[in-house]
Amino acid sequence: MADSFNALVLTAPGSPEVRRLSEAALGGEGALVDVLYSSINYKDALAVTGAGKIVRGTYPFVPGIDLVGRVVGGNGDFAAGDTVVLTGGGLGERFWGAYTERQVVPSTYLLKLPADIPPLWSMVVGTAGLTAMYSVLALETHGVTPESGDVVVTGASGGVGSFAVALLAKLGYTVVAASGKRAQWDYLRGLGAAQTIDRLRPGRALESARFSGAVDAAGGDSLAAVLSLLKRHGSVAASGNAAGHVLNTTVFPFILRGVNLLGIDSNTAPRARRVEAWGRLSALLDEPMIRAIHTGTVSLVEIPAVCASMIAAETHGRHVVNPAM
Ligand SMILES: NC(=O)c1ccc[n+]([C@@H]2O[C@H](COP(=O)([O-])OP(=O)(O)OC[C@H]3O[C@@H](n4cnc5c(N)ncnc54)[C@H](OP(=O)(O)O)[C@@H]3O)[C@@H](O)[C@H]2O)c1
Repeated sequence: MADSFNALVLTAPGSPEVRRLSEAALGGEGALVDVLYSSINYKDALAVTGAGKIVRGTYPFVPGIDLVGRVVGGNGDFAAGDTVVLTGGGLGERFWGAYTERQVVPSTYLLKLPADIPPLWSMVVGTAGLTAMYSVLALETHGVTPESGDVVVTGASGGVGSFAVALLAKLGYTVVAASGKRAQWDYLRGLGAAQTIDRLRPGRALESARFSGAVDAAGGDSLAAVLSLLKRHGSVAASGNAAGHVLNTTVFPFILRGVNLLGIDSNTAPRARRVEAWGRLSALLDEPMIRAIHTGTVSLVEIPAVCASMIAAETHGRHVVNPAM
């Protein structure tokens, strides 16, 4: 690679521009990586548009919380040429992120990409797909099985939601996809949803019990509604806040139905959990799933427009970033 390379730089909150950077500008400690692909998550959309306070470092700042790349200079843990993946862990929040052709990244959460997952697939998955996988693992741990009854996925057309629908369906669950985008209901059935319904709205503290489990990527009123609809000893894996961060509920689902509210934080997931999740994904991902969820691949220049659409809840599936495009 030439001495300088392209990066999307935030000069201030919500002010992105593509600039040429040199390796000397990267600083930091860890592995020097040529970025093959990144992706666009809701958190990236908040950072790039300035709609949310995601960046904890100083400006100018390179955003982007996911990357797959090739190690350039080996260090103790990785050899030159290794294909590595990093999702969250402070990337694009506390330290410079993935929207660049080259980056120095700490090795704390850096993993070798399983050989049977192509680099492009890993970024179709990214933080969103991994969060869906963690959610499924949490439901399994709490005894939600395909035999327990229907499971509901909220924010279903988004990144977390799409993978949750596809992974649960592949595992044999009967999936109800709740999505505000009727235009994407066929897409969701294509991913394996048995039924599509509108976004859930809160009603009474306890509604007729309908679902044995849930992956809630929306939060707010959506999560309150899910809690009221879970069967006895059902569980919801909660990861999102696109519908709001305030949760108005009562104790009744917990004390009268033994419902479990399972928090998911992909950002700080321990290394062993990450390895487990990528291992499960190795077995579950397939070409039709990836092709269906992969909405498109964009260049660094195109990132801000996709981020603005995502904040307006107009995107579906997953956008990959190719910084060399
Ligand atoms: N905890 C974690 O570790 C973790 C990891 C990744 C993401 N997240 C969070 O999970 C959420 C989803 O992330 P993502 O990357 O999948 O984003 P995304 O692709 O933008 O998906 C979000 C989806 O939420 C739904 N939604 C948006 N606004 C809504 C509203 N006002 N009311 C109800 N539903 C609404 C939409 O689905 P429909 O149009 O289909 O209803 C939208 O597609 C975000 O809040 C993100 O911050 C958390």
